Amino acid sequence: MSFQNILIQDKDRIQYIIINRESKLNALNQATLAELHTALTQAFSNNNVGGIIITGAGTKAFVAGADISEFAGKDVDSGRRIAYDGQSNVFDVIAGGNKPVIAAVNGFALGGGLELAMACHIRIASDNAKMGLPEVTLGLIPGYGGTQRLTQLVGRGKALEMIMTADMVTAADALALGLVNHVVTQDELLPKAEELLNKILTRAPLAIAAAIRAVNDAHADGANGFDTEIEEFARCFGTKDFKEGVSAFLEKRKPEFKGK
Ligand code: COA
Repeated sequence: MSFQNILIQDKDRIQYIIINRESKLNALNQATLAELHTALTQAFSNNNVGGIIITGAGTKAFVAGADISEFAGKDVDSGRRIAYDGQSNVFDVIAGGNKPVIAAVNGFALGGGLELAMACHIRIASDNAKMGLPEVTLGLIPGYGGTQRLTQLVGRGKALEMIMTADMVTAADALALGLVNHVVTQDELLPKAEELLNKILTRAPLAIAAAIRAVNDAHADGANGFDTEIEEFARCFGTKDFKEGVSAFLEKRKPEFKGK
């Protein structure tokens, strides 16, 4: 399928998904969200894709938010649908994905842009990046999971400060807050993301997927993460990769995982 608002680039087992609306600072309009849904669903079910890096086109913005021009004139029901569809079709799909997804935050990550980055499993920022949830300046609050994921990442007090003031934080601040995992120069951003993802891709894929599910259940409604961990741990024992991992260790060689 061909996309108008995103670019897909495959590099060995890494798939890049690049938000490609540079003239609008990569703002997420509904068409872009629909394409993201399709691309993510395809990537998660494509055996040739081991993991995903999401980034923004250009050097100025990762994503400067939801496309504000599409909000004008919307009513309460539309607002509910926008948030519900966005969360369930894109943001929760990323967070619950069976493959690692890294956000390479290459500039402004505001509103839906920061929410997109926070839905990813790992965030790496370039040192020029600025992040924030400025929705209250529009008379809104975050709707794509931002109130929840920011609170999980940085704690209630800082999350409320960022959301209520609408202030942006620098990459260095974001690192100190635990909002991003690493900060590097713009030139180093994609190499760093690839380095991290390539390391993860040497590990057992089914175990990686199990780890994502167990960690996600730390915050999932009605789930007991400790129970999930027991179940996921147990299921790993039924995989060929587990046998390979243990054999390789005992035979003092590198494991060759097949994702089975
Ligand atoms: N939705 C729609 N269009 C957006 C956008 C968004 N979230 N963010 C930026 N754009 C558009 C601008 O309207 C402008 O389009 P134009 O050239 O057709 O007028 C273009 O992207 C460039 O943005 P501009 O504001 O001129 O760049 P800047 O360097 O002066 O400012 C920002 C950069 C990020 C500070 C500013 O664009 C901004 O505040 N964006 C909105 C951020 C926001 O509130 N996001 C949350 C949305 S819920």
